Amino acid sequence: MDATSAQKRIIELQNLLNQYNYEYHILDKPSVPDSEYDQLLRELIQLEEQYPEMKTPDSPTQRVGGAVLEMFEKVEHRTPMLSLSNAFNEEDLRDFDRRVRQAVGNDVSYVCELKIDGLAVSLRYEEGLFVQGATRGDGTVGEDITANLKTIKSIPLRIKKPLTIEVRGEAFMPKKSFEALNKIKEERGEEPFANPRNAAAGSLRQLDPRIAASRNLDVFLYGIADPGETGIQSHSEGLDLLDELGFKTNKERKKCATIEEVLEYIEGWVEKRPNLPYDIDGIVIKVDSLSQQAELGTTAKSPRWAIAYKFPAEEVVTKLLDIELNVGRTGVITPTAVLDPVRVAGTTVSRASLHNEDLIREKDIKIGDFVVVKKAGDIIPEVVNVLPDRRTGEEKDFMMPTHCPECHSDLIRLEGEVALRCINPKCPAQIREGLIHFVSRNAMNIEGLGEKVISQLFHEKLIEDVADLYKLTREQLLNLERMGEKSVNNLLNAIEASKQNSLEKLLFGLGIRHVGAKAAKTLAQEFGTMEALRNATYEQLTAINEIGEKMADSIVTFFEQPEVQELLAELESFGVNMEYKGPKPVSAEESNSIFAGKTIVLTGKLENMSRSEAKEKIEALGGNVAGSVSKKTDLVIAGEDAGSKLKKAQELGIEVWNEERLVEELKK
Ligand code: IVH
Repeated sequence: MDATSAQKRIIELQNLLNQYNYEYHILDKPSVPDSEYDQLLRELIQLEEQYPEMKTPDSPTQRVGGAVLEMFEKVEHRTPMLSLSNAFNEEDLRDFDRRVRQAVGNDVSYVCELKIDGLAVSLRYEEGLFVQGATRGDGTVGEDITANLKTIKSIPLRIKKPLTIEVRGEAFMPKKSFEALNKIKEERGEEPFANPRNAAAGSLRQLDPRIAASRNLDVFLYGIADPGETGIQSHSEGLDLLDELGFKTNKERKKCATIEEVLEYIEGWVEKRPNLPYDIDGIVIKVDSLSQQAELGTTAKSPRWAIAYKFPAEEVVTKLLDIELNVGRTGVITPTAVLDPVRVAGTTVSRASLHNEDLIREKDIKIGDFVVVKKAGDIIPEVVNVLPDRRTGEEKDFMMPTHCPECHSDLIRLEGEVALRCINPKCPAQIREGLIHFVSRNAMNIEGLGEKVISQLFHEKLIEDVADLYKLTREQLLNLERMGEKSVNNLLNAIEASKQNSLEKLLFGLGIRHVGAKAAKTLAQEFGTMEALRNATYEQLTAINEIGEKMADSIVTFFEQPEVQELLAELESFGVNMEYKGPKPVSAEESNSIFAGKTIVLTGKLENMSRSEAKEKIEALGGNVAGSVSKKTDLVIAGEDAGSKLKKAQELGIEVWNEERLVEELKK
């Protein structure tokens, strides 16, 4: 084909494919079969390869995922990306309505929208062409994820008018895609994503756009960054304009004239929510008129003209099929409910810990009961209560065993404890759980060694203690089920790399009773080497602020055991590092930072760093990070969606910073 006809055909194909894409992904009305689309796309790819100069940035071929990036560039938002303040009940909503009416008078109408549970994105179009897409970041500066966003087919690469405009919305992963992705991950022995939101965020944070391209992400646009510039008068007109321009908006929105109508809308969605093909975590209520919005204005963090109603944790009913017993690393026997699998708060739940016998009695749980299940903090599945009215008489009482389900030794109940324990140190279940703990993320962090692989290795008698991990050979691993050449290589590399971990990881991994990750870090910082810690006396240990008597006792006893000494010698002979490698802690006196000597609580979602990163940075400056707010707290740092801790801080009159302030102070 000559250049002129190629050019003509390329434009024709681009237009056709863009039209089909729009019909499929935005109107949800496909007009051609997938096979036809694919064939035309292949033709276009070929032509563009032949004539690369004819490739345009809005060509549908740009969606397949281009070159791998080294890092994401920073993007300063021209208009800040604010977040929303939250309402948790009817009273909060009525308060909001009252504040609005007080400020702008009684002639108000609201737009209610679903609060999509994904991550906020900003899309910039120049003269109609998609030029940049960014994350929210701290609201002022985000990251350039254009290449990843281009792979989302519901984001138009060119809009229907040649406008320069920035639009805001939520990128998310539909429930179906999430389940399919996790299934693949599990088959590959990889850690599944906890929920669709994490999966969407994880996908968009990949430097290789081909990953995002494979993840079936989607988007809903819900606003224009500078709506005033477009000539519209209201938020609802803005949404209509987005539709006209070819963006995907959510059609479940509703204009409400009164707060009663708003409450009704919310009520309706509490019920319909589980049937949606994507997750929502609340309802957003916005004042419709732009002039009223301007009158109400914004605070540093969020607009006064909008509020997010957050749903209470979703509760579902399912059948409790059985109660299983698990033996933990420390010998504690935990009864676990085996549930008829049910979807709750974004994932399928089939087990929930029942903690101990007392709790089972308290809640009067029987095998065969219908139970109400929710996820505490939207993460950990929990049996809330049973439904006695649904009993048939076939339900069975549960009895705690008298012997360990794994090694059959007598179980005992230690004084002052509710838990039953197996105290046989050779109990295989305890050893297996100890191995799982040793490789876990906060311990030696050996990726690729999940519960399944450890159980297999243990079952095959290839590992009996943690030192055996360092003796594993390629041949042994290749013989395991579902272990290919590549995973074996990765695993051996991960095991090798773990030898370089700083001391606290090993200390925590050894599972010394009462020594958690935080104490392990303190011990590593204080003593520097395993040898020094091994020789530490009870008095030296208790002299350290955070080490109590129980822990000191347990540490001394641990190191006295000949088996422990042998194990450590063996680990050392394999080259496992026994020294602390992190920064020396700065004492409050040595530090001149604003954080020095202060007790600080972190709450809510941080956008720029994880909470553990923030904690590390604050501690490096002599601050002390605590888990809960009390009178002793000096400062609370509240990220997005901060809840009860923030409330408590406000009640106690404790100073509160937002993330922006934290970032600023850390820079000083
Ligand atoms: S409006 C200035 N509308 O919720 C107001 N936000 O803290 C900007 N979200 O991560 C937000 N669905 O991305 C708005 N229909 C919706 C939304 C929505 C989800 C997210 C938003 C942000 C968080 C608000």
